[in-house]
Amino acid sequence: MPRLSAWLVRIALAYLAAGFLLGALLLLNKGLPFSGGLWRWLPVHIEFLLLGWTAQFALGVAYWILPRFHSERRREAWAALAGGLLNAGLLLVCAASLLGWGGAWLTAGRLLEAGAALAFAWHAWPRVKPMSV
Ligand code: HEM
Repeated sequence: MPRLSAWLVRIALAYLAAGFLLGALLLLNKGLPFSGGLWRWLPVHIEFLLLGWTAQFALGVAYWILPRFHSERRREAWAALAGGLLNAGLLLVCAASLLGWGGAWLTAGRLLEAGAALAFAWHAWPRVKPMSV
């Protein structure tokens, strides 16, 4: 597994653990209410699991497994940029939701996340091909 994939998968696993922990606390709080403020963490739970875990794991494995050109991946910096943008974006969205920073910061976070998708697509597009070509 290349180094970038290893980092993306490790970070994804950390988000999985944190997201499940938050989910468990939210669930417990539904059955045995102990904190009214905990519901503010619901967007963080969603962000951690949908993007931090699922999307990031997919990026890490795709970077590893898509066909290469002989031994090269090419446009490698774009894949690393995608990882950076994804994490910056999701942390900004989490901070904006938790701290009530409002629409502009949320939009900025979402734009970073969209940038991550575009950067990874630019990296991966030429690698999406039948094995025989
Ligand atoms: C990959 C795994 C998971 C994903 C993608 C995920 C995603 C979500 C999403 C999108 C919502 C919002 C649903 C809505 O507003 O209708 C949600 C709510 C919630 N999740 Fe998760 N979740 C995951 C795993 C878990 C786990 C493992 C737990 C508990 C141990 C959990 C506990 C909760 C709770 C308590 C809510 C709030 C439900 C409510 O509104 O009453 N989640 N989750």
